[in-house]
Amino acid sequence: MSKLSVKHLLDIKKLESEDIQLILDTAKEFKEVLNRPIKKVPTLRDITIANLFFENSTRTKLSFELAEKRLSADVVNFSAGSSSVNKGETLIDTVNNILSMKVDMVVMRHARPGAAQFLSQHVDASIINAGDGRHEHPTQALLDAFSIREKLGTLQGIKIAIVGDIVHSRVALSNVLLLKKMGAEVMVCGPTTLIPKYIDTLGVRVEHNLQIAIEWCDVANMLRVQHERQDLKYFPSIAEYRAQYGLTMEHLDGLNKPILVMHPGPINRGVEITSEVADSEHSIILEQVENGVAVRMAVLYLLAEKRKLGNS
Ligand code: NCD
Repeated sequence: MSKLSVKHLLDIKKLESEDIQLILDTAKEFKEVLNRPIKKVPTLRDITIANLFFENSTRTKLSFELAEKRLSADVVNFSAGSSSVNKGETLIDTVNNILSMKVDMVVMRHARPGAAQFLSQHVDASIINAGDGRHEHPTQALLDAFSIREKLGTLQGIKIAIVGDIVHSRVALSNVLLLKKMGAEVMVCGPTTLIPKYIDTLGVRVEHNLQIAIEWCDVANMLRVQHERQDLKYFPSIAEYRAQYGLTMEHLDGLNKPILVMHPGPINRGVEITSEVADSEHSIILEQVENGVAVRMAVLYLLAEKRKLGNS
């Protein structure tokens, strides 16, 4: 397969395993480009991309912007804080105004689940979801999968434990959906209150004991507690969360096998992982960030190709 089956990247749910394979293989080629002395290619010279961030972001926003610039696209940036959204403009009006300036693709982060999907039905641009509330974060799952595949050679049969705040995490849902499509075994681990009730429908193992989870897995993906999405208290205190679900060097030293430690960032050092773990040889956290640029280049390139096809 050389073309995506989708016109937008809204979620992992709608991707075929062949789409995922194509994105990961294309990202591998772009990673090679990024390691050359001249990191820029003219591929998207005729494309204009708007990055619309209605929610805070550091890594994802910079990563998309770099990916776009490495592909020679024209780029405009928009952050909700400084925009007319605060004056009562609707999402469709905001975006249509931006699109009337001849924008081809929109990368959007929004607090509302389904915002990217909604936009894709109302505007004529390729939409990439950079995180919609607690729903999905497809490019994060793709870069996580790329990083695992790069280290372990495959995703098929690999055991991945996703640890922490599963219920509020778009990273967790996108990772579970992607890893299952690619034949990995997935476990989620955390306190009962942070595991969603619909978890049984996803075909994953559920574990509440971190020690058992790390003994089982090849890869531990440690998630941040999403305090900003919690209207209630889901566990007694940070100290108790850390004691039960914080990954330490003692955990890793006690294992009779190496495991990879991942984290989508931002890390709360000393909560879900200690500083020693984050900076240890087990950790591939900075490699994930590096791979993010190549994966986003692949997504932008493949969607632009699909767009050309649609317009011709
Ligand atoms: C994540 C997000 O925003 O969903 N971060 C990211 O995109 N790298 C995870 C988080 O905020 O904890």
